[in-house]
Amino acid sequence: MISRNDGKTYDTPDHFHCPTRRRSSTGAPPSPVDAHRGLLQRSRVFYRQKHLLAIEGLEPPEISHLLDLAESYVLLNRSGKTQRDLLRGRTLINLFFEDSTRTRTSFELAGKRLGADVINMSVSTSSVNKGETLIDTATTLNAMHCDLLVVRHDQSGAPNLLSKIVDAAVINAGDGTHEHPTQALLDALTIKRHKGRIGGLTVAICGDITHSRVARSNIHLLTTMGNSVRVVGPPTLMPAEVADLGVAVFHDMAAGLAGADIVMMLRLQRERMARGLVPSAREYFRFYGLDHQKLALAKPDALVMHPGPMNRGVEIDSAVADDPQRSLIREQVEMGVAVRMAVLDTLSRGPGNEP
Ligand code: NCD
Repeated sequence: MISRNDGKTYDTPDHFHCPTRRRSSTGAPPSPVDAHRGLLQRSRVFYRQKHLLAIEGLEPPEISHLLDLAESYVLLNRSGKTQRDLLRGRTLINLFFEDSTRTRTSFELAGKRLGADVINMSVSTSSVNKGETLIDTATTLNAMHCDLLVVRHDQSGAPNLLSKIVDAAVINAGDGTHEHPTQALLDALTIKRHKGRIGGLTVAICGDITHSRVARSNIHLLTTMGNSVRVVGPPTLMPAEVADLGVAVFHDMAAGLAGADIVMMLRLQRERMARGLVPSAREYFRFYGLDHQKLALAKPDALVMHPGPMNRGVEIDSAVADDPQRSLIREQVEMGVAVRMAVLDTLSRGPGNEP
């Protein structure tokens, strides 16, 4: 049973436990292709939205559906099999108004692995530089009959606005300081694969909470799935209203990390900061940078995550970031492709997920 902070409860789905441990009645694990086929059947029921604009508002079964399907894509990707007929003839536009390498490439790869025609549009090559408004851009894209529109924008709410204008299914790839839903899903998938579940864990999200859409999406996802979430950081980087989201607030790393199963570090987002919120990078590292000494305060089997890009020596020590026993950072990137394949697959079926 999952108990949410709002008091609602849900039956624990079977995929709450790590699917890689699931066995068929013969005792043999299902092949990646069979597992994937089975999940495609189930994908009809669970996700009810046309778009993926935010984690806030999603129900546990919708999140679980996306994680399960993504898990099957991990197995499929690792087996070397492809699903290139799934999005054949569909057009995916990556519309990025902000710099991004990791997220854009991940969506591009996901779209191509499913057989979509993928077009990348970045702000430096678009007509926005010539004074075209967001709405005009959307109207133009709509006339091109795009099926899936992946949007990153420095203004919170931009993907939401676009979703009201275009016919395509819109996926928020990060908007201002609002949300970054596929990052939270890939983080959840990474946690689930290592801890065997995505509920009942203590997760410490540390650093620049104020400017982080990753933090916001993770808080919504992790609390919705019944985890205990802490946010840890200096008061200057902690939004006043964060406690309303059902998290415990810590300003001291030692207290915030004690007993944590997962330590999620965030980048110090200087590009979004008014001046003077942190004294210096050295000072910040001393109090809030994760090194092995601070990590020792968490549970002995605590694992470390970071959405990237990392500021090594500022929020995280290289020795921790590159520690194969404790760091999941590289695996997060692999999970990103699988999660985005699951999202594209699901949204391409339409609301209610028609086959
Ligand atoms: C994150 C983002 O853009 O919000 N990065 C990412 O998606 N790879 C986090 C960050 O920029 O620090």
